[in-house]
Amino acid sequence: MIEKTPDGSLTVFSAKYQQHYHSSHGAQTQAQVVYLQGSQTHLHPSPRVLEVGFGVAMNFLTTLQDAVARNVPLHYLAYEFDPIPVEVLREYTHAHPMFEHSVWQQILQVWGQSFQVTEGQITVEVQVEDVTVADFPSDWATGFYLDGFSIAVNPEVWTPEFCRKVASSMQVGAHLATYSAAGAVRRALQNAGLQVTKHRGLTGKREFVTAEKVAK
Ligand SMILES: C[S@@+](CC[C@H](N)C(=O)[O-])C[C@H]1O[C@@H](n2cnc3c(N)ncnc32)[C@H](O)[C@@H]1O
Repeated sequence: MIEKTPDGSLTVFSAKYQQHYHSSHGAQTQAQVVYLQGSQTHLHPSPRVLEVGFGVAMNFLTTLQDAVARNVPLHYLAYEFDPIPVEVLREYTHAHPMFEHSVWQQILQVWGQSFQVTEGQITVEVQVEDVTVADFPSDWATGFYLDGFSIAVNPEVWTPEFCRKVASSMQVGAHLATYSAAGAVRRALQNAGLQVTKHRGLTGKREFVTAEKVAK
């Protein structure tokens, strides 16, 4: 179930979706380049990240590592309707530099249901909920990580209707990042009022997309 990717970091294969949780070019690289940097979260003095879905926490741990290194406050709100067994989560994250961080150790204790963990300037909330029916906060996120499985197998998190909900959860000036460069995804984000940019793939050949919420 847990497999190595070319940058040495690990990924997980989902039997349900018949897909890997991360880029086959490198899970850590994808988290760093597409999500953390693509959403410009690594530059924000006080990031508020909204993520669909939390998966095995590679994006979260990468974002935590950056916030800790920069000594900035972080509020991370993620949705995940199918929490992976805690043994798999523990094994998957064991080699990550943030594994021993007390926020992560607390999360492993409460994993499996919705929770909020706050320590110092770090707050993490995971809602065990289907994002298509969840209420997102309005004008809240400074960075949005749109990280469902592909549109072919997980279409409900890429629809025009869902992208409108995503856009309304973002502050003006916020950036969304996603590994999907599918035309339908780009159009849905554009129709939701976001300014969409397609980037050359830094994680191998795959392209990725960012989308900014600009003032009307
Ligand atoms: C590609 S994986 C996310 C990987 C994760 N971001 C990471 O860094 O490890 C996609 C995740 O989205 C979740 N998901 C898919 N559809 C969902 C929905 N409708 N509501 C909530 N979570 C969903 C899946 O269960 C899965 O864990």
